[in-house]
This record gives sequence, C-alpha cells and structure tokens, in this order.
Amino acid sequence: MSEPKQRRLTGLKPTGKLHFGNYFGALKPFIDTYLQYDSVLFLADYHALTTARDATKLRQDSIDVVKDYLAAGLDPEQAIVFRQSDNPDHTELAWICNCMVTVPFLQQGHAYKDQVAKGKEANVGVFTYPMLMAADILLYNANTVPVGEDQRQHVEYAREVARKFNQAFGDTLTEPQEDIIEDVGVVPGTDGQKMSKSYNNTIPLFGTPAEIEKAVMGIVTDSSGDKPQHVYAIHRLIKSAAELDPIYEQHKGRYGDLKKVLAADLDAYISPMREKRDSITDEQVKVILEAGAIKAKAISNPTMSKVRTAIGINL
Ligand code: ADP
Ligand code: TRP
Repeated sequence: MSEPKQRRLTGLKPTGKLHFGNYFGALKPFIDTYLQYDSVLFLADYHALTTARDATKLRQDSIDVVKDYLAAGLDPEQAIVFRQSDNPDHTELAWICNCMVTVPFLQQGHAYKDQVAKGKEANVGVFTYPMLMAADILLYNANTVPVGEDQRQHVEYAREVARKFNQAFGDTLTEPQEDIIEDVGVVPGTDGQKMSKSYNNTIPLFGTPAEIEKAVMGIVTDSSGDKPQHVYAIHRLIKSAAELDPIYEQHKGRYGDLKKVLAADLDAYISPMREKRDSITDEQVKVILEAGAIKAKAISNPTMSKVRTAIGINL
C-alpha cells in the first residue's frame, strides 16, 4: 500500500488582479505540484478584511482568483478549494488560538510591528491576524504550508500555538511545517524592481493584448550592454536562451522592437489560459466553492470536536 499523501494547505488573500510575478512566483509552482499532495487551497477573505473596504470588489476579487487558478490548470476535483468565510470553524478556532498566546508574543508579529513603526494605529484584526492564520492551518492538520518568506513567521506562530495547546490540553493539534517557496527568481516589474501590485509596475496576467502591450512598452530599458535586461529577464520566463539569442541578435539595439516581440510572446503564452478563463462563469465558481466548503468542513468539524472536548466546552 502506498503512503497516504501529506496534507499541504495554503491560503490566498483575494485582493486584486494577478500579475506575471504572481503567476511565476506562486500560481504556476502550486499548479505544477499540487497533485503530489492532499492539497487544500482557500480564499482568506476574512484576512483580506483587515484592509478591504469595498464589498463589491471583495466579492469580485474572490470569484476572480478562483477563475485564475482554474484557468492555470487547477482541477477542483483534485484539491479542496473553498472560502474561509464559508466555514465558521476558522473564526471559532481563531478565538481559542488567541487565548493560547500573550500580547507581547503578538506584538512581535511583523505586519503589526510594521504598522506601529509607521506610526499607524493598527486595527485589532491586524494584531490577531496570525491567530486566524494559525486556525486556518490547524483545523486541517496540515503537514506543510507553502508560503513566501514573508509568511514564515506566521507558520512558526501556528506551530507555537499547536505546541501550547497540546501542552495544556493533551495531544490534539498537528504541528505544521512551513515550506518556503524558494525565490523562483524575482520577476522584475516594468521599472526593474520586483513586480508588485504595490509598486504599480505590473504586467497583468489576464490583461487584454492591448493592456499587456501597454505595460511591456513601458518597461524601463538601460543602454548598457546589448540586451535590455528587464525585457530579457521577463522573456526568459517563457523562452529558453537558445530561442531568444537569435531574436535579440536580429533586433540588437532596437528596444522597441524587442518589446513588441515580448508582448506578442507573453500574449501567445497566456492566450489559451485566457480563453479558458473567459469560459468560466461566476456561477460555476460559486458551485465549486460551495462543494469545497462541504469537503473542508468534513475535515475541520472533527478537529473542532476534538478541540472542544479537550478544552471542556462540550458538556
Ligand atoms: P504583490 O507584491 O503584487 O502584492 P503578493 O505579495 O500578493 O504580490 O504575492 C503573492 C504571491 O506571489 C507570493 O507567493 C509572492 O512570493 C509571489 N510574487 C509576487 N510578486 C512576485 C515577483 N515579482 N516575483 C516572484 N514571485 C512573486
Ligand atoms: N497570510 C497569508 C498571506 O498574506 C494568507 C493566508 C491566510 C495563509 N491564511 C493562510 C497562507 C494559511 C497559508 C496558510 O499571503
């Protein structure tokens, strides 16, 4: 008999349109490997609420990110895909997690610390954010949690909560391990910095051909060397050096032409996914999320039941 698959869980905040950096840094690595695991993927919409203040946008972003994953090849039959807010176990366990840790412990949380350092008054959601995330993870007995470096501390916190809970109430929760996604090479944005929503330097993943071209034509080029380095770096994500060398030789020094080639290549790369994405309806996504919530609860309800018994709240 083969070993049961390890459970791997990750959450995504539905906070806006994906760009090529997200695709090569997160989405594609997930799609390439998720079948090797018992995979759980959910929309962390209550986490998004620490900043989101536009109901229409949150609703649409939640649907859109699922479409992006489906278009990129996610088969919802092969993974559990659901929305955090559809399963109240998350907020219930988050409260219990809150009661396991101290205020000074959460004061070390980097998101909270950053806001304090900037002189902002963080909302309480930002302060307890890591405890909702701990609940997300612990409810499903996740073995590994693939995240970027910026989320390492949060998974460590989840492990610490599991340890504290188990010490206090007996072995109940699985200690998760972070699985830090190696920098797949940071995808540069149009200004050469890391491509990021926050820098306004993105090439939209499912943009129209005109939107992709507009972003690509705006890539900053330097005149040193014979290749515009940011153009080339983005190009290398989708074509080998052997394929690119003759093209860059042919258009040597003509950066505008090279950008046009890149825009056309990005468009050709994404176009089958874009067609697939356009064929998926909001209704289909809702059906997938509803079915996913049922599967998610089938795992989290028994965990909650054990937790309630362990702490003594089910009489
Ligand atoms: P943004 O910086 O646009 O807000 P996020 O922080 O939401 O992006 O990132 C979501 C995921 O995409 C993370 O796993 C992150 O590592 C990955 N990612 C984002 N930008 C890049 C990039 N430029 N290159 C590689 N990976 C990236
Ligand atoms: N905090 C994560 C982020 O900002 C999203 C997230 C919420 C998450 N809950 C999670 C990631 C549980 C992994 C596991 O990207």
